[in-house]
Amino acid sequence: MSISEYYTPTHVLFGQDAETKVAEELEALKVKKVLVHFGGKSAVRSGLIKKITDLLDAKGIKYELLGGVKPNPRIELAREALELCRRKNIDFVLAVGGGSVIDSAKAICYGIYNGGDPWDFYSGARVPKGSAGLGVVLTLAAAGSEMSDSSVLTNEELGLKRGCNTNYCRAKFALMNPELTYTLPPYQISCGTVDIAMHTIERFFHAGKGIGITDALAGSLIRTVFEKGASCLENPLDYEAHASLMWASSLSHNGLMALGNDTKGDWACHQLEHELSGMFDIAHGAGLAIVFPAWARFVSKEKPARFAELGKAVFGIDGETESACDKTIGKFQELFRSLDMPLSLKEAGIEPSEEQIKELAKKCSFFSTRKIGNFRVLDEKDMETIYRMML
Ligand code: NZQ
Ligand code: ZN
Repeated sequence: MSISEYYTPTHVLFGQDAETKVAEELEALKVKKVLVHFGGKSAVRSGLIKKITDLLDAKGIKYELLGGVKPNPRIELAREALELCRRKNIDFVLAVGGGSVIDSAKAICYGIYNGGDPWDFYSGARVPKGSAGLGVVLTLAAAGSEMSDSSVLTNEELGLKRGCNTNYCRAKFALMNPELTYTLPPYQISCGTVDIAMHTIERFFHAGKGIGITDALAGSLIRTVFEKGASCLENPLDYEAHASLMWASSLSHNGLMALGNDTKGDWACHQLEHELSGMFDIAHGAGLAIVFPAWARFVSKEKPARFAELGKAVFGIDGETESACDKTIGKFQELFRSLDMPLSLKEAGIEPSEEQIKELAKKCSFFSTRKIGNFRVLDEKDMETIYRMML
């Protein structure tokens, strides 16, 4: 067995009004000046930004504001933010939002600490040697970036979406008030539900041996996430359901769900999806709902047993391996459908040409230089086939 890592240095405050602790958290870290970073409109409209700046003003904490992060966050805005941080001597970034805002903040934090162009860390040209401090006020349960080692940025000019994973970028604190997610549109709740489940599913498909406790936690988390996602859609003011979803988003992506497993998981679905959102700007969770069944049907032809184990852990499916495997994949599609997620590219309004399919696979294989996946290693041709299965 190999050694797996579990590193969660993030101070989590969870529950109603958790965001009101923001000034105390920043004071404890002896922060000099903060960039308050946020998205389009939701955090301003809800009054959250005003609430936070009032709290900072009351404690005399200096800050600058920069909003405008779009879903699938762009490196261009992170560069602009970095210029501001350099000019104003900002040493800490407070992300107020979901995965896109947090990831944009992580790119800025790398830039503050390491200098130069932050895209270097996403293109692979440089490896970060550290990061400025990051704090999070979470408004959306989905990406799990509030406790993850990961960030994903889009370079519009190059048409690429790329990730960077290091322990440096893990948030110093995450303030999680489930009530802040009451204002989410149903579509975002659905996308979030799929993404949270997929972070555990990807880890379930590791390449070697695992341990029973992690499989059992995985089954329970995936089942609970779909149940609570549905409850949030049914009753947008269901505190318990939003709270379960929010905590699941962190637990699914902070490393817990890979502990004791031989590898960190498969991750091919995420790699395939990142190219879709890089090229077509589709929401990450919706993209995953299209990718997973296609990937599963391709991969399970040779390796159905682990799919049957997933079906047993999540849905209690018994029986002969091949039919349990088919039932499992079908059951996930039913759940995606019940969340109004697209099940094909066409349903998402995307009809790629043959050229574009080849381009997706080319980009996903880093221009024919890498393979993806651990449970089943995929080459560029396999990627093309799977993209075709999504049409
Ligand atoms: O921009 P505003 O107006 O704030 O609206 C946002 C945005 O349009 C809205 N929203 C957020 N909180 C809200 C709200 N609307 C109403 N009420 C609230 N409380 O939701 C929309 C989507 O936000 P976004 O941050 O893009 O969603 P999500 O959290 O799903 O993040 C997606 C990004 O995270 C990356 C994805 O690739 C994608 O770019 N991921 C990051 C990971 C990580 N860093 O560990 C892992 C994931 O696998 C994922 O790849
Ligand atoms: Zn994801």
